[in-house]
Amino acid sequence: GVTPNIAPSMLSADFANLSSEAHRILNSGADWLHMDVMSHLTLFFSNSSSIPCRHFVPNLTIGAPVIESLRKHTTAYLDCHMMVTNPLDYVEPLGKAGASGFTFHVETSKDNWQELIQMIKSHGMRPGVALNPGTPIGEVYPLVEAEKPVEMVLVMTVEPGFGGQKFMPEMMDKVRILRKRYPLLDIEVDGGLGPSNIDMAASAGANCIVAGSSVFGASEPAEVISLLRSSVQK
Ligand code: DX5
Ligand code: ZN
Repeated sequence: GVTPNIAPSMLSADFANLSSEAHRILNSGADWLHMDVMSHLTLFFSNSSSIPCRHFVPNLTIGAPVIESLRKHTTAYLDCHMMVTNPLDYVEPLGKAGASGFTFHVETSKDNWQELIQMIKSHGMRPGVALNPGTPIGEVYPLVEAEKPVEMVLVMTVEPGFGGQKFMPEMMDKVRILRKRYPLLDIEVDGGLGPSNIDMAASAGANCIVAGSSVFGASEPAEVISLLRSSVQK
């Protein structure tokens, strides 16, 4: 079967104390650290003028320099969730910074996912693909079934951009469909997860659980993490 991985989102950590926050949460039983890398302004060149395109999400969080700094303080698996317009631009910087997993969004990678997967692997990271609530699940099948496949699918259970939003239970259909189709695949859920809805996600078939505000907002993060883990192991 698949191993449960509890991945607290560092987006809810105190960014001014990232290293001590990482240790606090790892000592509380976390398996992975989920790193939300958001936003990037891509310049499209046409008629010798450059036009900035829209950000993928309306927020700006951390990038390769912060991952590199954190890597000096921990050997933990850094599960990087790339909410950026052009993920290919980030593969080399994230690889050099010491990222462990590199999960790009299928919405940003319609034309170049094969190249992306190849690059991610050649930089020593584990490739994953994420999809937004509005994106049909079928869009990730080719990436899981490719000759060089992604090794994880991240099902967004909120609109990407911010922590602390409300879990969308209707996304569990996607998780169930994926689990039925791919018994051994890592399936991650991200957004609004905590003790009140973990059973729903775990019974649908998710084995990698991102939790930001429910872990960092708790007075005893270790209790929340062990509750999440016991549901996923059931
Ligand atoms: C949202 C991020 C999530 C978020 C989760 O765009 O991808 O990882 O930080 O935080 P909570 O658990 O608070 O929804
Ligand atoms: Zn995330």
